[in-house]
Amino acid sequence: MGQDRINELVDIINKASYEYYVLDHPTITDQEYDDYYRELLALEEKFPMYKREDSPTNRVGGEAIDKFNKVTHERPMLSFDDIFNEEEIIEFDERVRKVVSNPTYTVEPKMDGLSGSLVYKNGILVRGATRGDGLVGEDITINIKTIKSVPLRLTQNIDIEVRGEIYMSYDSFTKANQEREKAGEPLFANPRNAAAGSIRQLDSKITAKRNLDFMAYSLPNPEDYGVKTQGESLQFLRKLGFLTNKDLNQVASTTSEIIMYIDELGSKRNELPFAIDGVVLKVNSLLDEEKLGFTSRVPRWGIAYKFPAEEVLTTLTDIKFTVGRTGKITPNALFHPVHVAGSLVSKATLHNEDYCKQKDIRIGDTICIRKAGDVIPEVVGVKEERRTGILPPFEMISHCPMCGEELVKKEAHHYCVNEHCPARKIESLTHFVSRDAMYIDGFGERIVEDLYNMEYIKKVSDFYDLKKYKEELKELEGYGEKSIQNLLESIEISKQNSLERLIFALGIRYIGKKTAKILARQYKTMDNLLNTTYEEVIAIDDIGEIMAESIINFIKNPDNIKLIDELKEHGVEMVYKGADTKNNPNIENRTFVLTGSLEKFSREEASSIIEENGGKTSSSVTRKTSVVVVGANPGSKYKKALELGIEVWTEDEFLENTQIK
Ligand code: IVH
Repeated sequence: MGQDRINELVDIINKASYEYYVLDHPTITDQEYDDYYRELLALEEKFPMYKREDSPTNRVGGEAIDKFNKVTHERPMLSFDDIFNEEEIIEFDERVRKVVSNPTYTVEPKMDGLSGSLVYKNGILVRGATRGDGLVGEDITINIKTIKSVPLRLTQNIDIEVRGEIYMSYDSFTKANQEREKAGEPLFANPRNAAAGSIRQLDSKITAKRNLDFMAYSLPNPEDYGVKTQGESLQFLRKLGFLTNKDLNQVASTTSEIIMYIDELGSKRNELPFAIDGVVLKVNSLLDEEKLGFTSRVPRWGIAYKFPAEEVLTTLTDIKFTVGRTGKITPNALFHPVHVAGSLVSKATLHNEDYCKQKDIRIGDTICIRKAGDVIPEVVGVKEERRTGILPPFEMISHCPMCGEELVKKEAHHYCVNEHCPARKIESLTHFVSRDAMYIDGFGERIVEDLYNMEYIKKVSDFYDLKKYKEELKELEGYGEKSIQNLLESIEISKQNSLERLIFALGIRYIGKKTAKILARQYKTMDNLLNTTYEEVIAIDDIGEIMAESIINFIKNPDNIKLIDELKEHGVEMVYKGADTKNNPNIENRTFVLTGSLEKFSREEASSIIEENGGKTSSSVTRKTSVVVVGANPGSKYKKALELGIEVWTEDEFLENTQIK
């Protein structure tokens, strides 16, 4: 009885999800759905032995995990070469025509998310993986199951791998950012980053809340299903229960048809419910696809046309000057909010006085905005022809907007040199708690500013005394008992950070994250660093005169020593906790072969790291090889490693195992 009803409910709910999320055509009400769901949950609790692998109750996520397991893709997950203009489309078509006659192409929106691979056995979803480096990805099955448009069971009981894009719709993106803003967390820059961050959550319950989607677009083994064209692959995917871009995917036979499609899709781009960043062209016939094959890097049978960076016009409403941690003054453009490349923006940096004067930017101007590298908004220029009436030209301020100190110009920038300027203080405090520094979760610029203004936190050591204001903090708007508790816990946890975080967090001029790590590795404890000399610092590789001087100035300043003593008194640990790479058992006495094109470090760098750690590098794979490190598109050495069962590391794993991230 229980089992039959469970089976029935699973089928009803999965069908309802499919109709809602894939067909966009619900047939039952939310209330009915909830009732079925609750009934199923209760029955599964009573009869756990009848719970099905494809049960919709698996979509809520499960226990958090420590790390994702690696999975090797059966066929590499490649990507296409990018092209940017009409000529390149014509050249692509000419290259194709040299190999096949009268090709037709599928033209498809290029979804702006991240690619994923889903494996089904006997019609049931058994594995979901990220692309990773194309050869080895991460097993994200539990997270993939939370995506409502991913069928947990197909309409046919077949074994199949399906590839597509994991993405976040604009609606879900806006919601996710609203929640992050409320929680004082940094906002996602665009839906792609949001999707990438959400699918790689170790806690799948978080992924479940983010409402991701999956758009299916290819079958790695179409021949196994009697499919003859890419167009048929897309239809087959839809028949199996996947979401496809059925209203947007088309077939084109000439370059002018392709260009027309691109223009049309480009003009519809802002009305779509999800972000796209171009058009993917694929030779339609799978026989033609096979004839065209691959270059050493990419398929010859397809290409990705990328839309030009989107530019939009808006009105400059104000120029606001901000003061950075070093006292640097930056003019910022404030403008009417506009959607650019997937997110709503309302401000952009104007860098410095020269930049503003060169562009002759004036409050009230119509300005053109785009996203540099698709993330950071920038002002491309001013539409002078749209200027109506007389607008006063840009004028640089002469005094600090926060403390009133006269500004000093050094090279292109103006600085507030008042060490006690509140704006500089707030910036330094915010830097101290930031993600790359002490990473005290829950602090954003706004709360730091509030705490500074209320005089609870004046200097970084005050963070560790904040608990004494516990009761007062609860009165702060937007902070409940729980969030204050979490905040205070994060502060305590940060005391155990490894030394490099503290060195970076202290905001020593010219000492970035990488140098902080070098110093921490070299000196091991803060006391050692405080007792160093200029000669000793300058002798370290990668540390130049300016940095060395800055470090010495910092450690000679009694205020800094006092601050460090206070941090010590609060129990902040000041020792390097990274692996001592000199005795790194992952490397010591082992033989390494490097293959494929390495993107994150050069061969020389990798070899010297291996040598420093007591390992050896060799050029050929034999039974004596301990580890093969593979970059993109490796050749026979990788194959041989797999044949001989030798350990294979990706570039990221190499970095992890040598602790040099
Ligand atoms: S097919 C050999 N179809 O864009 C690559 N990819 O380089 C086959 N993408 O990384 C991929 N929309 O993540 C394909 N309709 C679509 C796509 C698409 C977006 C992504 C994919 C890949 C990149 C293409």
